[in-house]
Amino acid sequence: MKIAFVGKGGSGKTTLSSLFIRHLAAAGAPVVAIDADINQHLGPALGLDEADAAALPAMGERLALIKDYLRGSNPRIASAETMIKTTPPGEGSRLLRVCEDNPVYDACARPVELDGGAVRLMVTGPFTDADLGVACYHSKTGAVELCLNHLVDGPEEYVVVDMTAGSDSFASGMFTRFDITFLVAEPTRRGVSVYRQYKEYASDYGVTLKVVGNKVHGQDDLDFLRAEVGDDLLVTVGHSDWVRALEKGRPPRFEFLEDANHRALRRLRTAADATYELRDWEHYTRQMVHFHLKNAQTWGNERTGADLAAQVDPSFVLGEGVTAAV
Ligand SMILES: Nc1ncnc2c1ncn2[C@@H]1O[C@H](COP(=O)(O)OP(=O)(O)OP(=O)(O)O)[C@@H](O)[C@H]1O
Ligand SMILES: [Mg+2]
Repeated sequence: MKIAFVGKGGSGKTTLSSLFIRHLAAAGAPVVAIDADINQHLGPALGLDEADAAALPAMGERLALIKDYLRGSNPRIASAETMIKTTPPGEGSRLLRVCEDNPVYDACARPVELDGGAVRLMVTGPFTDADLGVACYHSKTGAVELCLNHLVDGPEEYVVVDMTAGSDSFASGMFTRFDITFLVAEPTRRGVSVYRQYKEYASDYGVTLKVVGNKVHGQDDLDFLRAEVGDDLLVTVGHSDWVRALEKGRPPRFEFLEDANHRALRRLRTAADATYELRDWEHYTRQMVHFHLKNAQTWGNERTGADLAAQVDPSFVLGEGVTAAV
């Protein structure tokens, strides 16, 4: 299943996604972790030192390879140049699976050892001013969107994305690519204002959005979040000395994370597992086509000089049973 962590800057997206990834790895679940946030901190939060984090290959710099691999022999996609971030798979496209080796993982993913097992980590690479706020051909998150749209994920397989809740993801449709979106919010007005904005987009597209309260101390914080977000509040996390020790470069073993936080992580997993069971691949495919046509019209056709609507394979439905070209 596909899971996103979004929220205001500094709310704890990276911290909570990294804890959730550790939780899954400790349970032996296969995980692809993706850092698609402006502040690329997921590697260090998973325990990489500065040099290892800096050496991670940037997906944004390997867009051509990703496109070439994914388009495979799909006759509707004439070249990597005409493949934009929303170009959907069709017959002949190559698909990705969580548990496999493929050239995209070879080029873009690195194993990270955690207590209990290793996960694959992929990062978009550092953002520049030119990457922000524009629905653009070279967008860094475009590489992630292509991977998500070509990824056939099963139950008990997890793709966890640490990302921004920026206008890019609303324009491209990236925010609709997840079974569940965890919105990390501190108990402050600004924390919940991001929730309100996201909720507006989310409800138009049937996106499952749950709030994870972070840095919640005591009843007043809890009451505030309840009053502001109601039933969307899934769980809260308090200050964690374990996280603080990690920040000091002295990570304790994961089993020593506070019990209440272990429980919170279990709630996240249960909620994610429950939404995967509702996955409707046809709806999922229709939404990617919807956003592709929208992006084709607003900038893609003009940018590539091609009619990108012709890339849509009307009979194709992404799904576990699909056998793609090899
Ligand atoms: N529950 C927690 N307990 C202790 N420290 C925390 C907790 N949550 C977050 N922090 C700390 O707060 C800071 C911000 O958290 P984090 O980097 O996860 O936020 P973010 O939303 O990813 O921020 P950015 O927008 O910069 O990417 C970090 O120093 C992190 O260690
Ligand atoms: Mg972050």
